[in-house]
Amino acid sequence: MTFPVSENVAKMHTSSTLKAGQIAADLRERGFDIIDLTVGEPDFTTPEFIKDLAIEGLHKNITKYTPSAGLKSFTEAVAHFYAEQFGANISTKEVAASCGGKQALFNAVCTLVNRGDDVLIPKPYWVTFPEIVNFCGANSVFIETEKTDFILTAEQVREAITDQTKLLIVNSPNNPTGAVIASDEMRKIIEVCAEKGVYVLTDECYLFFVYPPSEVFTSAVLPEDLRKFVCVAGSFSKTYAMTGWRIGYTIAPEEWTNAIVKLQSHSATHPTSFVQYACARAMERRAESMAAVSEMLAEYKKRRDWLIPELRKINGFRCAMPEGAFYAFVDVREMPGEKFKVSADVADYLLNEAHTVVTDGAGFGANGFLRLSYATSMENLEKAVERMRNLFESKTRTV
Ligand SMILES: Cc1ncc(COP(=O)(O)O)c(C=O)c1O
Repeated sequence: MTFPVSENVAKMHTSSTLKAGQIAADLRERGFDIIDLTVGEPDFTTPEFIKDLAIEGLHKNITKYTPSAGLKSFTEAVAHFYAEQFGANISTKEVAASCGGKQALFNAVCTLVNRGDDVLIPKPYWVTFPEIVNFCGANSVFIETEKTDFILTAEQVREAITDQTKLLIVNSPNNPTGAVIASDEMRKIIEVCAEKGVYVLTDECYLFFVYPPSEVFTSAVLPEDLRKFVCVAGSFSKTYAMTGWRIGYTIAPEEWTNAIVKLQSHSATHPTSFVQYACARAMERRAESMAAVSEMLAEYKKRRDWLIPELRKINGFRCAMPEGAFYAFVDVREMPGEKFKVSADVADYLLNEAHTVVTDGAGFGANGFLRLSYATSMENLEKAVERMRNLFESKTRTV
């Protein structure tokens, strides 16, 4: 019997990033010496003091249901952290805890868009955005950004808005490109949307991973008249190397937050109680938390500064310097060799001939590109570069 999977789920695509990671894991299990550059998570361990706080939470018996919006101490800690760190003026009624940034995004979209609405998504996009929109029966309307080096502009948004447009989803720092939208431009983008009554969901999952001279910016600092239209989706996953803990949050106007809490009360209910406790306490210990983030950022920067010039030396690779996150986005459209019709061919070739797994850009709406994660050790990066250089310098010239 074929299981009659629902239409909403049947039309979903399996995450291309997870699929590539799975291929790497399978091959490794079969004994191959695989280098996995698909990983979208920090290779660091969660800071010790946060682990200790979770244990403290357990010992304090914070092990029961919490309010669906999260523990009071959690929503207060988020509001307080944003006030201290960024000067934002957020009420605790505007904060809801979620099971990671992904659920924050899911909650935000599902509580706003209706069947038939248009949702603007700049290309390249994180794979999950169109899937959530699709799930809600709304339409993803993509905005091309290559002309502006993959950095969304207010002008592009203005041109894309129609009467059908309900929401814009922006992700800066960006996965997969590493591009960062400057604070002035982000403000203009939100002004254009507010003027037209369009809501904005800002995915700030990589908030702190920005390399100078680019600057960290959260839309949570915008004035009230703009914030009325904005939902910030935040996450602890990448910031504190806590991907498995599943905790994030939304910061949105009170009515939007109420709807989010209502929806969540019928799904996950809330993220794990003692995880909320640990995160709340960690945010209170801001200096320690920020020191942990700085340490990781310095390591990512070191890798980036070494990796990108090395990638540029590879025959057929073109790569912009990422300003944030931990991904190199490589343009392989001019890769010499008959066999490379699409970027997936290059990814397959790398896998088969160099045992190096990368993510094909097509899943991000960017055929012709590859995403290479540098959330892995320098040793792995050096090995991967050497393999790729040997491969493309010796073989592609003859294919
Ligand atoms: C752009 C972006 N947003 C959101 C997420 C969700 O992360 P999490 O659900 O672990 O917080 C990810 C994870 O890869 C991401 O890359």
